[in-house]
Amino acid sequence: MIKKYYYPCVLSRFIENPFVRLYLHTLKSLKKQNIYHKLSHQLSHITYTFIYLIYQLHIHTLTMDGGDDMNVDRMVARNGTKGTVDKDGNLTSADYYFDSYAHFGIHEEMLKDEVRTNSYRWAIERNPHLFKDKIVLDVGCGTGILSMFAARAGAKHVYGIECSGIVDVARKIVANNGLEDKVTLIQGKVEEVTLPVEKVDIIISEWMGYALLYESMLDTVIYARDQWLVEGGLVFPDKSTLYMCMIEDSDYKSQKIDWWKNVYGFDMSIVSEMAMAEPLVDTVDAASIVTNHCPLITIDISTVKKEDLAFQVPFKLTATQTDYAHAFVMWFDIEFSKCHKPIYFGTGPHHRYTHWKQTVFYFDGEMTLNNNETVEGMVTCKPNESNHRDLDFKLEYTHEGEIQKSGENTYVMR
Ligand SMILES: C[S@@+](CC[C@H](N)C(=O)[O-])C[C@H]1O[C@@H](n2cnc3c(N)ncnc32)[C@H](O)[C@@H]1O
Repeated sequence: MIKKYYYPCVLSRFIENPFVRLYLHTLKSLKKQNIYHKLSHQLSHITYTFIYLIYQLHIHTLTMDGGDDMNVDRMVARNGTKGTVDKDGNLTSADYYFDSYAHFGIHEEMLKDEVRTNSYRWAIERNPHLFKDKIVLDVGCGTGILSMFAARAGAKHVYGIECSGIVDVARKIVANNGLEDKVTLIQGKVEEVTLPVEKVDIIISEWMGYALLYESMLDTVIYARDQWLVEGGLVFPDKSTLYMCMIEDSDYKSQKIDWWKNVYGFDMSIVSEMAMAEPLVDTVDAASIVTNHCPLITIDISTVKKEDLAFQVPFKLTATQTDYAHAFVMWFDIEFSKCHKPIYFGTGPHHRYTHWKQTVFYFDGEMTLNNNETVEGMVTCKPNESNHRDLDFKLEYTHEGEIQKSGENTYVMR
C-alpha cells in the first residue's frame, strides 16, 4: 500500500528536481557542441555520483515531508492534515488516503456504535443541570455529534476543534440543525489553535483507541484540559480502566498464525512471526475465557498526566476451568462519574459489541491450565519511539502450575 504511492512519487519528483534538469540540459549542450565524447568516461562517473546524491536527497526529503503520513493504517487519523478540495469543492481520494477521519465512513461506524454514542448522549442530555449555560469544548468533534448533544443539553456555547477535513461537513450539519448560534467549529490541531474564549467549563471528547491508548489521543485531551479547563471544571468521560484475561483460542490462532506456514504450498511462515508481534483487534467469544480478569490501570482523566500513559504493572490471573490458554485479551471500560447517575459502558468480551472489539495478544505455544492455578507477570505499555501513535507492549508471564510455562513477548500495535 505504501509502495504503490511511494515510487511514482519519487520518480516524478526526481525528474522534476531543478538540479537534475540543469545537469541533463548541460549534458545535452555538451553533446551538441561535440565535446561530449571526449569527456564521456569522466562524465559517466560524475553522472552516477550525481544521480545517486540527488536520489538520496529525495528519499530523505520525502521521509521528512510525508513519512508520518505514509504509515496510514486502519482508522488512524493523521493529525494536522488539512483536507484540500477539487474544483467542485469535494475532498479527493488523496485527502482520504492521508486523512482517514475526513471520510464519512469512519464516522458512520462510530455513530452507529450505539453503546458508544448513546452513552455520550445520555451522559450529556440527561444531565442538563451540569450543562445549562456552560461553555463546553469538544476535543476532536468529528461530525459534531457531541457538540450538538451539549447544545441540546442547554450549553451557553460549544466550541468543537477538529483537524480533519470532516469539519467542513460538520459545520453544514450544525447549520442544518439550526445550531450555528450555539456551536462554533474550529479547524486545526488542538495543540495549535487559538480558542475565542480563555476558559471552558466542561470538556467532552471521545478519544479512546484500541486497547484504550492506541492513537494516543488522550494526550490531546490532557493538553486541552491543562490549557483551557477552569478550576473545578468537568471532563466527560472522567474514568477509564484497562482489563486483561486469558482465552482458549487454538482454532482461530491456527487460522491467523499457523496458516502462513503453508499458503498454496508455499512457506510464508515469516508472516506468522509478524502476525504474532502485532496485537489482533477482533471480537472474542466470552465462552473462550479461561481465567478471571484483572484491572491493569485505572485512569482519572481529570488528573492524569501524559507520563502516566507509559506504564509497567504486575498482574495475577486465576484459571476458572481446566483448559489450554493461547492468548491474553485486553479491553477497557469508560465512566462518566459526575452524572446524576453515573453512566458506564464496557468493551469486553462479555459486553455488548462495540467498534473497539477486543485486543488479542497471542503467545508462543499454549499454556496448560488446571482450575484455580495462577498466571502472574508484568505488562509494560508505552508509545512507540518512532511513531508515538503506535503502542509498544511487553507481556512477561509465569504459570507455576502442574505443567509450568513462562515467557516474554513484545508487540507493536500499529
Ligand atoms: C474518535 S473520533 C470522535 C469524533 C466525534 N467526537 C464523535 O464522537 O463521533 C476523534 C476525532 O478527533 C480528531 N482529532 C484527533 N486528534 C486531534 C487533534 N490533535 N486535534 C484536532 N482533532 C483531532 C480526529 O480527526 C477525529 O475526527
